[in-house]
Amino acid sequence: MVRPFAAGIDGASGGVDPAGVVSERRLSDLRGLFRDAAALERAVGEGDEVVYRVVAAPVPEVEGEVPFSVTTIEAGRVGDEFYMTRGHAHPEPQGEVYFGLSGRGVLLMYDGEEVRWVEIRPGVAGYIPPGWAHRTANVGGEPFRFLAVYPGSAGHDYAIVAEGGMGARVVRSAAGYEVVEEPGGAGPAVREYYRRRKKRG
Ligand code: F6R
Ligand code: ZN
Repeated sequence: MVRPFAAGIDGASGGVDPAGVVSERRLSDLRGLFRDAAALERAVGEGDEVVYRVVAAPVPEVEGEVPFSVTTIEAGRVGDEFYMTRGHAHPEPQGEVYFGLSGRGVLLMYDGEEVRWVEIRPGVAGYIPPGWAHRTANVGGEPFRFLAVYPGSAGHDYAIVAEGGMGARVVRSAAGYEVVEEPGGAGPAVREYYRRRKKRG
């Protein structure tokens, strides 16, 4: 178990002090997730920049603990689609809270059938209920930063989002951005994955 502590959360830099694990995802780590695969490959060839960074507090991902971390998503697009996280579901159906620190983003949620999204700005908390996959996109012109707090036993399933998508994409529009639902919907295996988790959650 972790001893009691306080951590500094720097909304201007995305820093957490003391910090635990720090991870970075580049464009090349996001292959298969953006709609415009050719635009992604061009951008990978032009420098493969970091799309987002996650700085975690030193709290382990085990039952009973409550890990927290700050994500910074840079401003940018691949084709018309805004820079975003890979996205995942929690295999143990557990909820999560996101709290906006700087910039402007969209928190996209998907339960295999329905798409919901909320805008996150500084001072706004977004709630992800158990059983909903989630992804964030930076829809502003500056880095988008948010604090995430979640149960340590939740786990992270990236394959279900890589394979089944998020049901919608966050793209540029005349108004700035729009969330466009994807036609067709998920296949039966993906729907069943989420149904099972919602029953347990
Ligand atoms: C944790 C959580 C966030 C994300 C982070 C990066 O459950 O939802 O801390 O892990 O925003 O996104 P992913 O994990 O999808 O690469
Ligand atoms: Zn999560």
